[in-house]
Amino acid sequence: MDMKGASALIVGGAGGFGAATTRRLAQAGAQVVIADMAEEKGAALARELGGGARFCKTDVLSEGSVSAAVAVAAGLGPLRAAVVVHGGPAAGARIIGRDGKRYPFSTFRRTVDIFLNGTFNVLSIAAEAMAANDPLADNQRGVVITTASIAGFEGQAGQSDYSAAKGGVIGLTLTAARDLAPLGIRVMCIAPGTFLTPAFGDADPAEIQAQWGPGVPNPKRMGDPDEYARLATHIVENDFLNGTTIRIDGAQRFGIK
Ligand SMILES: NC(=O)c1ccc[n+]([C@@H]2O[C@H](COP(=O)([O-])OP(=O)(O)OC[C@H]3O[C@@H](n4cnc5c(N)ncnc54)[C@H](O)[C@@H]3O)[C@@H](O)[C@H]2O)c1
Repeated sequence: MDMKGASALIVGGAGGFGAATTRRLAQAGAQVVIADMAEEKGAALARELGGGARFCKTDVLSEGSVSAAVAVAAGLGPLRAAVVVHGGPAAGARIIGRDGKRYPFSTFRRTVDIFLNGTFNVLSIAAEAMAANDPLADNQRGVVITTASIAGFEGQAGQSDYSAAKGGVIGLTLTAARDLAPLGIRVMCIAPGTFLTPAFGDADPAEIQAQWGPGVPNPKRMGDPDEYARLATHIVENDFLNGTTIRIDGAQRFGIK
């Protein structure tokens, strides 16, 4: 799908993957809307990109704020791409800890809410707007790209909430692609391995690499967020990619922990 003259919504657009994807989609000619909770970073990125780039303070769990961001995007041009790549709470602890305590249900529920329910909220609201687009060649109206994790396939110990939520995002992909096929809307999911993004905190990047890089078979390093962004941009451009999850992980497979 050609993004020139169209708009793209990047939810989590101020984050590591999100900012890289926003830059790539802007380069591809899209009018980009950065939808994120992080006001300063999101507004700074919109200023840096200039042109039609906009920031909208958005919470994935609020139908009102997601609808408002989608409306801003649709006002800049037909919304043809939505990338759902927001962050959330870090993985927690074992279901029964060494101290014999249960993992709190409220924490589990919150993680699933943000990563899985928040993804569905954005997907459905973006698809509703895309359904109103004029169709392009092959009846194509738009594409939604969601973000899982390799933990959605092989969750490590202490990741019950995160891996369940990401497994849910993977499971949503095919059924959403089937539901939205009559409207000409594709749905794809990206499952990243370990990438050097702000999600890993403020430690020296060399230290983070030294901790996580050796676990990746080839190349022996963490992923670069631009590698995610290039895949997302390719998915947008390639209409025959639909209904599946692509791992991008340097052949990494999580072990027990
Ligand atoms: N970095 C990795 O190694 C890695 C690996 C696998 C999967 N992922 C997934 O990729 C996604 C993005 O990760 P990242 O590394 O870019 O994280 P990040 O922390 O760099 O960025 C996440 C962004 O999401 C925003 N955000 C948080 N809560 C939000 C909410 N309720 N509504 C809207 N925006 C919200 C944050 O403000 C932030 O800008 C996450 O879903 C994460 O689980 C990351």
